[in-house]
Amino acid sequence: MKKIIIINGPNLNLLGKREPQIYGSLTFNEFFETIKAKYPQVILEHYQSNIEGEIIDKLHEVGFSYYGIILNAAAYTHTSVGIGDAVAAIETAVVEVHISNTFGREDFRHHSYVAAYAKGVVVGFGLQSYELAIQSFLSPV
Ligand code: DQA
Repeated sequence: MKKIIIINGPNLNLLGKREPQIYGSLTFNEFFETIKAKYPQVILEHYQSNIEGEIIDKLHEVGFSYYGIILNAAAYTHTSVGIGDAVAAIETAVVEVHISNTFGREDFRHHSYVAAYAKGVVVGFGLQSYELAIQSFLSPV
């Protein structure tokens, strides 16, 4: 079965509590249970870290064997050359996602070090952004 991993970056462990007006009131685990049940045709995994190097290590670990990676690098999206380089270095396709519409927010959120190396980017659909990314792996055009 195809393995797809969702990798979440810093502060996304606080989903449900963190600025709910922007990120919603569901915890990631609650949401993750619903998508696991909804997409039984794939093995869905989730990894979260607040540490840049750990996210890079995880990309290296899964990036030559998994079918797909869904990456919300959160604040590191806008700062991390290292995460961008890791996405460029691996073979597995990466879809970048953001819960909020980063283009409607502060200017510093408009730039991504990941996007140039991603297969695609899903931005601004709330937690549904992750689901749209899963669907992009299930029914490639
Ligand atoms: C985010 C957007 C980033 O700008 C922010 O730093 C986050 C979350 C999102 O999913 O909307 O932590 O990646």
